[in-house]
Amino acid sequence: MGIKGIAVTSRVMAFPERRPRRLRTTPAMRRLVAETRLSVDDLVAPFFVKEGLDAPEPVLSMPGVAQHTIESVTLEAKALVALGVPSIILFGVPLVKDERGSGADRADGIVQTAVRAIRDAVGDSLVIMTDDCLDEFTDHGHCGLLRPDGSVDNDATLERYASIAISQADAGADVIGPSGMMDGQVGAIRAALDSSGHADTAILSYAVKYASALYGPFRDAAECAPKFGDRRGYQMDAGNAREALEEAALDVEEGADMLMVKPAVAYLDVITALRNSFDIPVAAYHVSGEYSMIKAAAERGWIDGDAVALEHLLAIKRAGADFILTYLAREVAEVLNA
Ligand code: PBG
Repeated sequence: MGIKGIAVTSRVMAFPERRPRRLRTTPAMRRLVAETRLSVDDLVAPFFVKEGLDAPEPVLSMPGVAQHTIESVTLEAKALVALGVPSIILFGVPLVKDERGSGADRADGIVQTAVRAIRDAVGDSLVIMTDDCLDEFTDHGHCGLLRPDGSVDNDATLERYASIAISQADAGADVIGPSGMMDGQVGAIRAALDSSGHADTAILSYAVKYASALYGPFRDAAECAPKFGDRRGYQMDAGNAREALEEAALDVEEGADMLMVKPAVAYLDVITALRNSFDIPVAAYHVSGEYSMIKAAAERGWIDGDAVALEHLLAIKRAGADFILTYLAREVAEVLNA
């Protein structure tokens, strides 16, 4: 077929032989050729557990998320097992905060108590991860111990992280997730675990954690917004990608078993860069702000929240993540199992 008076020389122009649309004709065909798949096996569900609560307390900036009691988090854990979700990560909110974050490494601390209760209820059917950080436990809200001038003391903080790791492993955590971005934290925690009989406890390093405005709702949930200043002195600048590889390489050298990038959707290139440079599992944290943006727009009817949720999580996998920490875990698992 040609336009009147003009000879058509290329058949491809008029009748393309390569037709990618042939592989999009039916749902079954699209399933067959899918390059990336999202499965319940990819999900890690984060939970907030608060000391001294009588009933779960909804987090207003995270619709569908609550601060849990030991009982309610245990019920959630059982529900996730039934859905086939393989893992959870726990964040604790203590009743009392002080400058050292003393509640973080108590044998009867809120995280340690929750780990024991959940383990009792579900045995080995869930990989139980714990966040190893101080900001939820310090009265100043920073991720480490402070010097008199208000700056975070890296090396003094490492001793606290090591002690927290031991107490969490003693309680039965399978994986310790250091999230404070102190230099040397993975090495310090590995040494502490090894010398306390926890050689089999793994470390998921929040190796690449950006100083992100997307953590806002989490700070409501964990009651851990810094009382002064910000976290730019220890978390990474949003524009830096080469530095991510440096951070990850150091953590691998220090003994990290798995690496994590955080947040996720705004940092897909960084996930891909880590994937291409390292062979150990790479995780991504779809953080509170990413979750709440979807929920807020969906609530207003501006987007289809379920569809956007699946699209985001699939994109994170396409970028190269092996698994995803996400507040969407339970609802997405329900959709995937339907
Ligand atoms: C620090 C920690 C934070 C998050 C996970 N671990 C907050 C911060 O660095 O300010 C944020 C996760 C989220 O936003 O969902 N312990």
